[in-house]
Amino acid sequence: MRFVVTPWEVKGEVDYERLIKEFGVEKIDDKILKLFKKYAGELHPYLKRRLFFSHRDLDWLFREYEKGNKFYLYTGRGPSSYTHIGHLVPWIFTKWLQEKFKAKLLFQITDDEKFLFKRELSLEDVKKFAYDNILDIIALGFDRKRTEIFLNTEYSKTLYPLAIKVAKKITFSTAKAVFGFKNDSNIGEIFFTSMQSVPAFLESVRAGKNIPCLIPYAIDQDAHFRVCRDVLPKLGYYKPASIHSKFIPGLGKGGKMSASEPDTAIFVTDAPIEVERKILKAFTGGRDTLKEQKRLGGKPKICTVFAYYSLFETDDKKVQELEKKCKCGEIFCKECKRILIDIINKFLKKHQEKREKAKSKVEKFIVKD
Ligand code: TYM
Repeated sequence: MRFVVTPWEVKGEVDYERLIKEFGVEKIDDKILKLFKKYAGELHPYLKRRLFFSHRDLDWLFREYEKGNKFYLYTGRGPSSYTHIGHLVPWIFTKWLQEKFKAKLLFQITDDEKFLFKRELSLEDVKKFAYDNILDIIALGFDRKRTEIFLNTEYSKTLYPLAIKVAKKITFSTAKAVFGFKNDSNIGEIFFTSMQSVPAFLESVRAGKNIPCLIPYAIDQDAHFRVCRDVLPKLGYYKPASIHSKFIPGLGKGGKMSASEPDTAIFVTDAPIEVERKILKAFTGGRDTLKEQKRLGGKPKICTVFAYYSLFETDDKKVQELEKKCKCGEIFCKECKRILIDIINKFLKKHQEKREKAKSKVEKFIVKD
């Protein structure tokens, strides 16, 4: 099946090499990794493992950085559900970038988007999810002095005048071609991308001069930023640079982790017993029988359990060892699942504690007008 990657749908087995060509992004190569190492002092495991696999204009961003022209970060969340661990990937990486580059971060919560695109959600629903998701964002440890979180509907006095400047430069035919809108799309959907563009130049507007911006996201969001990059120079601003991650798969066969398939997604609020139940049912790269597994070895490349293991285990050696053991038929899926259940439940226990503490900090992170 041909795969699909849009901001609203990810289906099929994603061919990332092909996406690089189709979306016109650049692969993260050794040259880019060297630049990260030079300026950040080390490589985040997600970079080493090429979970972040492509970018736009990182070389330019580092050249500006070298000249003393520091960048700010921008990322976001569309609050249509509780947070799952796939969402955490770009955020954990963004937090690392913030720490390493002492960068300011704008965190946009697109409650307007999810209200407009999800028929079943009311404005109250998306707001409830927004404030719940914000707890996860704060729990990851972003620097309060350098981070601003805002809901589009609560910051519209600031965002709207800038969004209409963007909107005026996007024709309906571009919006249709990029996002596939049809006659029955509501007109709010068509306008929405303008709102997602604004934080990519908001700091420049505030400062009264151009400031480079770096946007981390999983590659599903790319369509928005292709349009954004076309428009911003027409308004006199820099094109934002960006860095893109692959998708964390769901625990079933194929497809990204998605809140709309709750049995194959691990939510950050899941109890240990839920995590156990979901992982025990996960799709693995194991063979049909133990005998075959011993003889032929497993296939970590297609195994969701291994994918999660390499996400949570930061020790490269351990990851390589498990991969080798699996390929040689020295370890069976059940054992790997147990290891993973343990790792994820430990992570979630800590995360859930931090979520509780985050409740008293929300107001300190939020900006509204
Ligand atoms: P949303 O809420 O769909 O997703 C939030 C972030 O998580 C990424 N993501 C994933 N990453 C890895 N594995 C997965 N399975 C997975 N599922 C989702 C998304 O790419 C995103 O980075 N419209 C946006 C909100 C937004 C935004 C932004 C995102 C506004 N401005 C700037 C990134 C950058 C949205 O609905 O994201």
